[in-house]
Amino acid sequence: MSVSDPILPRIRPAIAALAPYRQGKQAGPDAFKLSSNENPFDPLPSVVAALQHTTPVNRYPDATAARLRERLGVRYDVRPDEVHVAAGSVSILHQLILATASVGDEVIYAWRSFEAYPSLPLVAGATGVQVPLTADSRHDLDAMADAVTVRTRAIIVCTPNNPTGPIVTSAEFAAFLGRVPSDVLVILDEAYAEFVTAPGAVDGLAERIFERHPNVVVLRTFSKAYGLAGLRVGYAIGHEKVLDAARTTGIPLSVTSSAENAAIASLDAEDELLERVAVIVERRSRLVDGLRAEGWDVPDAQGNFVWLPMGERTDAAAAAFVENDLVVRPFSGDGIRISVGEEESVSRIIEVAAALR
Ligand SMILES: Cc1ncc(COP(=O)(O)O)c(C=O)c1O
Repeated sequence: MSVSDPILPRIRPAIAALAPYRQGKQAGPDAFKLSSNENPFDPLPSVVAALQHTTPVNRYPDATAARLRERLGVRYDVRPDEVHVAAGSVSILHQLILATASVGDEVIYAWRSFEAYPSLPLVAGATGVQVPLTADSRHDLDAMADAVTVRTRAIIVCTPNNPTGPIVTSAEFAAFLGRVPSDVLVILDEAYAEFVTAPGAVDGLAERIFERHPNVVVLRTFSKAYGLAGLRVGYAIGHEKVLDAARTTGIPLSVTSSAENAAIASLDAEDELLERVAVIVERRSRLVDGLRAEGWDVPDAQGNFVWLPMGERTDAAAAAFVENDLVVRPFSGDGIRISVGEEESVSRIIEVAAALR
């Protein structure tokens, strides 16, 4: 420390050791931004119109997001209290971990998975337990159940798995729940559910798993299929008491009335939005086929992204994509995640990946 360094407040060692969240790279005007699994389509005019009818900005929003919770309640045939809305589903993950795990407790998740997971237990003072994916980049639910101890408070299951792509099946999830103590929270993170086409995939809402298993909370988001990433709105469906705990740890008033209105307008326009999802899914299959035809070992892609396991070549390969105006997301030493974006990006990705073989 030099004499001019100011004395700063003491930071908890676990926090000081963590890197702050790093977003996928922004793209220049001519580049395709394929680093954050966003939706490439412009917002629907009806959604933009809804943004004009929000609460005046000098007023706070409705802290309970009651209109959106009621609407989702009707959509999924649950009571509004069985729905929780927050500023993105990542906020709900944070709230649920804070509500269940603290010093000495453990939170299990698969790895590699969503890059926000590792910090969640650490911020809560708890310990994260990472269970490696299988060789084909899927959750190893048997190993995750084996990892449960008396200290386990929560388990996160991500399906389809970000960043690798494969789903968990209904049968696998049912067998897993059969092995997990019923007082351990199981968070089923289904951020990309609308893009899934694989037969047999678990669907926590359609199967109403939270009814038979009150320890299961299903997470969904308006950021991906519904294209509202910039407005920050996601939701959970589960047992009222468990969601009350998330409502307690959450920062009040963080869902703006713009976000709530846009989410309701998106539910009104669901058919139109799901047509766009079908376009993205079709691009995804062309992308996967093209990459496999070039000899890349691409795992089953069930989200709006594909995974290229590049290992040690990851950073150099990511640089090659960026040179070609394709801003992808590298995970050093492991692989590259590429979001399914604009139509013109599809053939360019395949060309760059072919040159990398
Ligand atoms: C698996 C998974 N869960 C949750 C999220 C969070 O989404 P949001 O906070 O935008 O709802 C993401 C975002 O990339 C994700 O990939």
